Amino acid sequence: MTVAETTGSAEDLRRRMTTCLTHEGVLRTPAWREAFATVPREHFTPAFSVHDAEGFRTLRAGDPGYLETVYSDTSLITRRDKNGVAISSSTRPRVMAAMLEALPDRDTATVLEIGTGTGYNAALLCARYGAEKIATLDIDPELTTAARERLHTAGYTPTIVTGDGTRGHTPRAPHSAIIATCGLPRIPAVWLSQLAPGGTVVANLGYGLASLNHHDDGSLRGRFLPEMAAFMTARHSPEDSAPNACPEDIAGLMPARGRTTTVQVAGDVTAPMPRFLSGMLHHDTIDVSLVGDDGRTVHLIQHPASGAWARMAPHGAHGARLDHDGPEHRNLWGERLVLIKAWFHAGHPGPDRYGLTVAPNGTHTLWLDSPDGPSWVLPA
Ligand SMILES: C[S@@+](CC[C@H](N)C(=O)[O-])C[C@H]1O[C@@H](n2cnc3c(N)ncnc32)[C@H](O)[C@@H]1O
Repeated sequence: MTVAETTGSAEDLRRRMTTCLTHEGVLRTPAWREAFATVPREHFTPAFSVHDAEGFRTLRAGDPGYLETVYSDTSLITRRDKNGVAISSSTRPRVMAAMLEALPDRDTATVLEIGTGTGYNAALLCARYGAEKIATLDIDPELTTAARERLHTAGYTPTIVTGDGTRGHTPRAPHSAIIATCGLPRIPAVWLSQLAPGGTVVANLGYGLASLNHHDDGSLRGRFLPEMAAFMTARHSPEDSAPNACPEDIAGLMPARGRTTTVQVAGDVTAPMPRFLSGMLHHDTIDVSLVGDDGRTVHLIQHPASGAWARMAPHGAHGARLDHDGPEHRNLWGERLVLIKAWFHAGHPGPDRYGLTVAPNGTHTLWLDSPDGPSWVLPA
């Protein structure tokens, strides 16, 4: 999407964003197109910071470029904790649209949103289904207070609750759908009991966006969307920093000294899919790709619990310098290599060829192509 390069009124920019998302095939149904064309994102994001080629910039309503950024395909960071870690944002419109399109296509659906944030996504839900069908929940009381005021002044009156969304929301259950706009390590088992028969869960796990349906056997089952994204991880209390959400921390590993070897790399180590698989199978690790001072991309993996880390800098067609340290039982690069090889031999499948089954007892099984195909039981 290249809306940021164009100028115009908020209405013009909103219309162009909606048109772009439609042309790109992300917005598919008239009801969602109408919602995106109607709800003013700027009303929910009067001030934010963005990360672009120039680093972090803060923009406020009225600043040059403010409206163009609001209507670009950008995540707008709207709240940080005392250490400067981002803990709330308005998600990239493309990712929001992809997730919303996965919700039930019927006007009667009732939806629970986990992660109210700015209230923009809640406003889109209200515009689509009607405010009386929407409940939205955030762990942070300052965010729910601000979102309530913005939603009300924009004419939307959903149920807004302060609380931990990993516990769902019983008073409004059963929900036709639960959509989580914070990242989760696993789908909370309690959500299954709060879903209506045939209900839908749309949620981010690792780098995947799962779109799951409740089946008669009590399980949730479905595929990942073609889009990949990693949301701010769910917090356990408003005072928490988002666990695993801080690339600034991991950047400290760029100069770290460890054991150095040269390794051969199989396939494309820069491809995002091995990271998608790692986010499922090794969800206790964090990994990012950063550009070093010499302009080259470096891949970092960290296992915070043990202190293990690995830093891999590709050079040449198939070689890489590997620096790593930590206990032997977490060979992070070895773990990643297994995933790269498996993915490469499966013919480079994209996220939407993978699916997930969540059994009533909470066991998560990742599968390729069909629940009867190759599968991996995910660690709890
Ligand atoms: C990416 S933001 C949500 C964006 C939001 N939907 C919007 O339109 O602005 C993620 C939000 O999840 C919230 N959050 C984090 N942990 C949570 C939890 N356990 N329960 C509910 N909300 C949580 C954060 O406070 C943050 O506002």
